[in-house]
Amino acid sequence: MDKKIFDLIEAERKRQNEGLELIPSENAVSKEVLDAMGSVLTNKYSEGYPNFEGLDGDDDEVLASTTAGHRYYGGQQNTDKVERLAIARARRLFHADHANVQPHSGAQANNAVYNAWLQPGDTVLGMNLGHGGHLTHGSPVTQSAKIYNFIAYGTNPETGDLDYDELERLAKEHQPKIILVGYSAFMKVPDFDRVAKIGKEIPGCLLMADMAHVAGLIAGGVHPNPLEHGFHVMTTTTHKTLRGPRGGLILSMGKVSNPLRRPEHTLENIPTLIDRSVFPGTQGGPLEHVIAAKAVAFYEALQPEFHDYAKKIVENAKTLADALKERGFKLIGDGTENHLILINVIESYGIDGKKFEIALDKIGLTLNANSIPNDTRKPFEPSGVRLGTPAITTRGLGKKEMIKIADWMQKTAEICAGKRDEAELKKMREEVRKLALKFPLPSDK
Ligand SMILES: Cc1ncc(COP(=O)(O)O)c(C=O)c1O
Repeated sequence: MDKKIFDLIEAERKRQNEGLELIPSENAVSKEVLDAMGSVLTNKYSEGYPNFEGLDGDDDEVLASTTAGHRYYGGQQNTDKVERLAIARARRLFHADHANVQPHSGAQANNAVYNAWLQPGDTVLGMNLGHGGHLTHGSPVTQSAKIYNFIAYGTNPETGDLDYDELERLAKEHQPKIILVGYSAFMKVPDFDRVAKIGKEIPGCLLMADMAHVAGLIAGGVHPNPLEHGFHVMTTTTHKTLRGPRGGLILSMGKVSNPLRRPEHTLENIPTLIDRSVFPGTQGGPLEHVIAAKAVAFYEALQPEFHDYAKKIVENAKTLADALKERGFKLIGDGTENHLILINVIESYGIDGKKFEIALDKIGLTLNANSIPNDTRKPFEPSGVRLGTPAITTRGLGKKEMIKIADWMQKTAEICAGKRDEAELKKMREEVRKLALKFPLPSDK
């Protein structure tokens, strides 16, 4: 009956199929993930948690348990199993002692960890937003920045890597309760061992990694897992490289116990402190339809083909980065070690990131304007654009297509710089559409 909304959904499906998604935080999910999300599980309230016993086995063993969970509503015989499967698969995927699959988003996951471990006024050492960190790591516009004391470390402008010396100096000076490694515009692989060594020397310091961007690369085995390098907690979104539904996830190392009982405030008890912080601390009823879709995505990520997918994301990003460099684009960090590329378009073509983003949108290439480290321009018209390869790799694009994308980007930058005729945008729009339609969304195949 609601034709307006369903027409809009159809129009969005068409937009996605006829364009190429280069936003590095987006992906294209399978039909199974979509089906789980659009299921009757959305009708159910299931505040609390399932039973956490026997999650080490395979899926059949996990399903065999009939022990009741710690829920506040009846009728949980199916939702308990859905959530147990999601937890067991997430633990398997990331080699974690515990997984909380209930956070509604990445921001919720981060806030729940802060709330689990910190008291108001406590210090967190996180990455500078202007250097690639995330809003939720202490930007003054967030709620958490009103509660906690965030101190920022940055990147080294020469290498594009984390400034480990600055991080160590700030850690010694401020004795943070959390050291947080995480980012949404950083192209290197962090040295988790080095950060863990710094954190372990500070009493009561929780080592937290926000791997929202690279979780799929970790799951696919092409990026180190912070939990295997001394970190206590890893948060992530489930919708970026991990290719699941929009949502959050918290993985942790330590002792798992009954979430109804308040544990002692120790690093060992962090899994239970986090459970209690997610519910009832910061959220109400979990979204079991989304948790089911997370479980499906974890199942997909546990298959051997997901390793090939993760490998291909990085290969495509490197090919695209090289092709862009050959076409006069200046890249922050001179390239990429993951799925992300950050271009200084002002330095490359004398145009700002917003102008370039809008022009590329016209030809069907979607990416976002982004600040670069130490940017002197306003955030709405920054010097850079950020792009990445998770979604186009899902759709099956490879080396040949990366070169084509770099060509289109060069021509568009030249048009924006007044060196080519604007009429070419229309021609390129048709070329992008033709190529995109050869690689339909996985849910449309
Ligand atoms: C590193 C990082 N953390 C957290 C988030 C927040 O995730 P969400 O948008 O699901 O709240 C993002 C999203 O872009 C992110 O990149």
